[in-house]
Amino acid sequence: MQNQGIPKEELAGKPVIGICNTWSELTPCNAHFRELAESIKHGIIQAGGYPVEFPVMSLGETLIKPTAMLYRNLASMDVEESIRANPIDGVVLMCGCDKTTPSLVMGACSVDIPTLVVSGGPMLAGKFKGKDIGTSDVWRMDAALKLGNITQEEMEEAEGAMCRSKGHCAVMGTASTMACMVESLGIALPGNASIPAADSRRKVFAHKSGMRIVDMVREDQKISQVLTKKAFENAIKVNAAIGGSTNFVIHMIAIAGRIGVDLTLADFDRCSMGIPLLTNVQPSGDYFVEDLYYAGGLPAVMKEMESYLHSDLITVSGKSVHDNISSAKSYNANVIATLEKPFKTETGLAVLRGNLSEGGCVIKPSAASKHLMKHRGKAVVFNDIEDYNRRIDSSDLEVDADSVLVLKMVGPKGYPGMPEVGKMSLPKKILEQGIHDMVRISDGRMSGTGYGTVVLHASPEAAVGGNFAMVQNGDYIALDVENRSLVLEVSDEELARRKAAWVAPKPITDRGYVAMYIRHVNQAHEGADLDFLVGKSSSEVTRDSH
Ligand code: FES
Repeated sequence: MQNQGIPKEELAGKPVIGICNTWSELTPCNAHFRELAESIKHGIIQAGGYPVEFPVMSLGETLIKPTAMLYRNLASMDVEESIRANPIDGVVLMCGCDKTTPSLVMGACSVDIPTLVVSGGPMLAGKFKGKDIGTSDVWRMDAALKLGNITQEEMEEAEGAMCRSKGHCAVMGTASTMACMVESLGIALPGNASIPAADSRRKVFAHKSGMRIVDMVREDQKISQVLTKKAFENAIKVNAAIGGSTNFVIHMIAIAGRIGVDLTLADFDRCSMGIPLLTNVQPSGDYFVEDLYYAGGLPAVMKEMESYLHSDLITVSGKSVHDNISSAKSYNANVIATLEKPFKTETGLAVLRGNLSEGGCVIKPSAASKHLMKHRGKAVVFNDIEDYNRRIDSSDLEVDADSVLVLKMVGPKGYPGMPEVGKMSLPKKILEQGIHDMVRISDGRMSGTGYGTVVLHASPEAAVGGNFAMVQNGDYIALDVENRSLVLEVSDEELARRKAAWVAPKPITDRGYVAMYIRHVNQAHEGADLDFLVGKSSSEVTRDSH
């Protein structure tokens, strides 16, 4: 360390704190992280620790192809091995864009040292032609562009307007869902979820987090002491109340797998049931995460729903959940509603069962259309994403507003990384009728900014030959969200006949990381981690040569 101009005395006897930084100019949501890391360092030094910043693989949603999710598990390996192999006593995880949060938390869980998360904060709400806009508006504009109602130039101008400051997406997309997740799990200090990236209080928050991690090392408060089953239950309940992203389910199951907590899809339905939507934030509502902060932030939401939470749990603040939120208050009932008068009664997330997906699948009722929550329609099947792109806008496509669009081969193995194509833009001929929603089902994911009556993560996916692979054009499918069911109206005998004739698709490659991913990735309902990464190896370095 002396070649960096650091005298021995500077380090001696001090807790060494790693700052795991996902800064990258290729991850625009995290591009301000060098600056934010300085605030964390100041806090660490003030508390008597010694900070060492190190880079790990950064995953940006906007630029990585085919999807950042393909590399979540790879980045988690980088994080795990970097933390374990280096002489650090505690670590601050700098998370922002969607996958940077689960990948860092998963890696840290597999090591299990004192760990604290600092999120980068959301962008400011966009301003465009007198309106507030955010990245959820991309979907509306995409449909308008398809119909010729706006021009390409207007679309590009709007993009610039909705991304006018540092930070991640300004709506309750996956990034903000993840920032809420770490706060409600208790592994980030209160306030983490919603302070805008451009607000100087984000830096103050980072500074205080730097101070706190030093004390966590002195107290030897490991991440496993915070991440108990009950902590996961709290996070699921909070996610229902904020209308968080469906990606939350996959990431939570993967994190639980690393820390050794048994978490299944059934836990999500059990814990979400009966919890109304309290926050009026896009894509389930009207406002932005910035507004959530001004209205009191996540602590105010958690205070409102404290009766549902395990509020005696210890968090990284060193205090209980109850103590963290006791002074929180809602300052704007339009943004943070009450349990008596919730924003919507539909729960944020529902797990569906039935013969169409033996392992289960999910839907976000708060962002779906009420009139489609119970629906029966004929399947219009697309065999893969290429088939969908080729035919969706064709005038020959046999489809009507009651049809159920089915997209296969976009699950973890079928379209490696399970890209966010499950939302499926509606056929042009349907949009032209003024219809904006249809039931859509796939084995893929949807962006957290997306909305609509969209069933996702059908598991087992089509690529491994579950019932979902057997759906054919014209089959009837019945969705009943209230009763949590999704049924393919095809007899067991017919399904068995189709299975006998099914031929497994060939993997797209047999080389490199992607081949390893296809071979080892678990199904969506198991968290889509690599099978050999589930669990932890502790911080011990075996066969140390020194
Ligand atoms: Fe990074 Fe939306 S693109 S959070």
